[in-house]
Amino acid sequence: MPRRLRNTTSALRHGWHPVARSEEVRDEPVAVRLLGQPWALARLDGALAAFADRCPHRLAPLSAGRVDGQEIVCAYHGWRFVASGECTAVPALGAAVPAPRRARAVAAWGVTERHGLVWLAPAEPVADLIELPEADQGEFDSVWLTPVRSSAPAGLLADNFLDTAHFPFVHAATIGAGEDTVVPPYRVTPDGAGFTVRMEQEVANPEDPLVSTGEHPLIQRRWSTYWYQPPFMLRLRLEYPDAAATNTILFCLQPEDDRSTRIYTRLLRDDLGGDETRIAQAARFEQAVLDEDLALQERFGLDGLPLPGSESHTGAESHTGAESHTGAEPQPGEEVSIRADAAGVALRRALAALVDRVRDAASGDAGYPTVPDASAVVTSP
Ligand code: FES
Ligand SMILES: [Fe+2]
Repeated sequence: MPRRLRNTTSALRHGWHPVARSEEVRDEPVAVRLLGQPWALARLDGALAAFADRCPHRLAPLSAGRVDGQEIVCAYHGWRFVASGECTAVPALGAAVPAPRRARAVAAWGVTERHGLVWLAPAEPVADLIELPEADQGEFDSVWLTPVRSSAPAGLLADNFLDTAHFPFVHAATIGAGEDTVVPPYRVTPDGAGFTVRMEQEVANPEDPLVSTGEHPLIQRRWSTYWYQPPFMLRLRLEYPDAAATNTILFCLQPEDDRSTRIYTRLLRDDLGGDETRIAQAARFEQAVLDEDLALQERFGLDGLPLPGSESHTGAESHTGAESHTGAEPQPGEEVSIRADAAGVALRRALAALVDRVRDAASGDAGYPTVPDASAVVTSP
C-alpha cells in the first residue's frame, strides 16, 4: 500500500518543530498542539520549559496552571514541577512527605528559541535547527506574517513551498504572472539530513524601482536557493543581481493534528531601506501568495504527503492500514514525478529516510527513545 506522512506520524517526534512565536509565550503557561498531542509551554525563571500537557496526578492540563518562579503549578491540586518534570511539592501530603516516585511531568526532549520562534523536539531530533543568517545582517528588514492554520498536512505544504512549476498556474495573479511554464534543470545538493536547491531563472521584477524609470529591464535574472531541514523547516533566498536585492523567506510548519497545520512565515529583505510602508506592502503581497497556495492545497483532501517505498518496508502509518507489499525494493509511488519535481522528490526521500531511520533505531539498538527523555531539556535565552 502507498504510505503517506501524516501530521501525526510518530517518527516526526524526532524533529524540531515550531510551536509558537516567541512573543506568544509570556508569564503564563501556553497550550500548544504537536503531532496530535497537547503540550504546555512555560518560562520557568525565564527559561523555556515544555511538558506533555497532562499532570501525572489526575491528568489535568498543566497549561491551565500557573508559573511560580522555577516551577509550574497545577491548577487542580497544586502539585509543583520543575523543568525536568520532577515534582517538588504535593500540597495534600504536607511539606514533610516526599512526592510519589511516579509523580513526574513528562518533559520534552528539547525546547529552545531561535529566529523568533519557540521550537520543541518531543524526542531526539534527526536534524539541527535551520539557519537564518539574514536575521543577523543589519541591512535586512524583517517582518512576520500573522501565523495561520491550514487543514492541509505539513508535508504537502512543504512540498508546495519547494515547487516552482505551479507559479504560472496558482500564482497567475501574483508572482507567476507571465512566468515561463518551462522549469529549467536545476541542482539539488544533499546537506546533512536535508538538502539545498539552486536554480536560475529569468523573471519579471516589477518591484525594482528602476524598472519604471527604464534604467533596469523588467525581465531580470533571479537566483533562487532553497534550504530544507527535516521535517518542516525551509528557507528560500531570492537574489536579483541586476537590482542588487535579496529577498529571504523563512517558512516553518507546525503539524498540530491530522487536520491542522500552523504556518509561520518571516520575510527578510535588504531592498526596502527600513520603509515601513514598503515592508507592510511586501508582507501583504506574500500573504496573498500564501493564500493562493492554501486555497488549492486545502482542496487536495489528502491525509498526508505520499512517500516512496511500501508500507511493509516502513512500519509507518498507512492511510488505509490494509495489506502491504513485502519486497525490499521501493514500490512505485502514488504519484508521477518529472524532472521539474526534483526538489519535491528530494523532500519525499528525506522524510522517508527520517521515518525509516526512526523505525530502524526502534527495532535495533540505538538512540531514539520512544518516550521523551526528561533528562535533556535544552533551553536558551
Ligand atoms: S491533577 Fe494536577 S495536581 Fe491534581
Ligand atoms: Fe506557491
